[in-house]
Amino acid sequence: MFLQSLQLRHFRNYQEQYIEFTAPKTILLGNNAQGKSNLLEAVELLATLRSHRMARDKELVQDSEAIAQIKASLQREVGISDLTLTLRRNGRRTVNLNGENLRRQTDFLGVLNAVEFSSLDLDLVRGSPEVRRHWLDTLLVQLEPVYAYILQQYQQVLRQRNAFLKRHLETLNLTALQSELSVWDAQLANAGTRVIRRRDRAIQRLAPIASKWHASISGSTEVLQVKYTPNVPLEETQSEQVQQAFLEKIQQRAVAELHQGTTLVGPHRDEVELTINQTPARQYGSQGQQRTLVLSLKLAELQLIEEVVGEPPLLLLDDVLAELDPSRQNQLLDAIQDRFQTLITTTHLGSFDSQWLNSSQILAVKAGAISSQSSVF
Ligand SMILES: Nc1ncnc2c1ncn2[C@@H]1O[C@H](COP(=O)(O)OP(=O)(O)O)[C@@H](O)[C@H]1O
Ligand SMILES: [Mg+2]
Repeated sequence: MFLQSLQLRHFRNYQEQYIEFTAPKTILLGNNAQGKSNLLEAVELLATLRSHRMARDKELVQDSEAIAQIKASLQREVGISDLTLTLRRNGRRTVNLNGENLRRQTDFLGVLNAVEFSSLDLDLVRGSPEVRRHWLDTLLVQLEPVYAYILQQYQQVLRQRNAFLKRHLETLNLTALQSELSVWDAQLANAGTRVIRRRDRAIQRLAPIASKWHASISGSTEVLQVKYTPNVPLEETQSEQVQQAFLEKIQQRAVAELHQGTTLVGPHRDEVELTINQTPARQYGSQGQQRTLVLSLKLAELQLIEEVVGEPPLLLLDDVLAELDPSRQNQLLDAIQDRFQTLITTTHLGSFDSQWLNSSQILAVKAGAISSQSSVF
């Protein structure tokens, strides 16, 4: 797929900006705080309806404006798609595809696919389990857009069940609550099981690809393992068995839940373990080695999305290329070649290969305005 153009209106520090993409690689060049990451964030929003910066919509809308709009024209094998995402300072988002407002956001999610790679992604190794769950969920939303709906349903049941537990905090008489609670348990297990099974399937497919990339980049000296460890044990993958295990674990934790007033069992407590040579990756090795791991995950995401969707997704590289050493840079560039349209932000061109620069479109970003830069020198 190829993003032909992007139009930003009152998005972050962009007043009104139209950008045409004319090469497989576009380098966005500019000093800090000019709007480079904002632009990638706009593309990411079209792909996932999420921002990895976890921004709220009112932060995405330009200061003192009420409405922001991101529009894109995307070339896919089936033809051109026009996407519009409207964000409101106070209010709901609307999504529009080819001139038609969509009632379901899931219909918008499958259209543009993108993998984002920024320095924040080192948190995948160092951060809390929540960071990895969020990463996995964002990937899943692109692999199977219906997952967005499934996850939302789970989160809704979880919130309601938590509210119920909180209302009955310190209730020592479990039996009095049992009948009402069991209704929530059933709903939680039902929705949660769907989340667990899809997360499991995604990691099953991603893990071998990531390990392969990692072996290749590290020169086979290190073995990366990506392992899904759900909070509810997953010995069998059939839906009924998972639900059964879910309900059993809830029973075991029932007293603790009432004491703490919160749900202790379910995929909101899942983990994705990353180990290198059997050692937790966060304890293993240097920052460079951790970067290799994250790079491997990102390359695996690209490949998996391409396999599932049938077209190469976009790659959004936010400030990371210059941070990779020349050998890792080359591994990455070899892997993407011209197959994946790539948007790259950087503050300086010094570390880029010149052959590479020649085949790239270079845009200068300054104070929320973009200008074409025909020559580097
Ligand atoms: N809602 C907003 N309205 C206006 N300006 C914003 C908004 N959100 C962020 N900005 C501005 O965007 C700039 C940061 O842009 P960013 O894309 O992160 O910079 P960089 O070029 O370093 O990647 C800052 O100057 C910030 O004040
Ligand atoms: Mg930035």
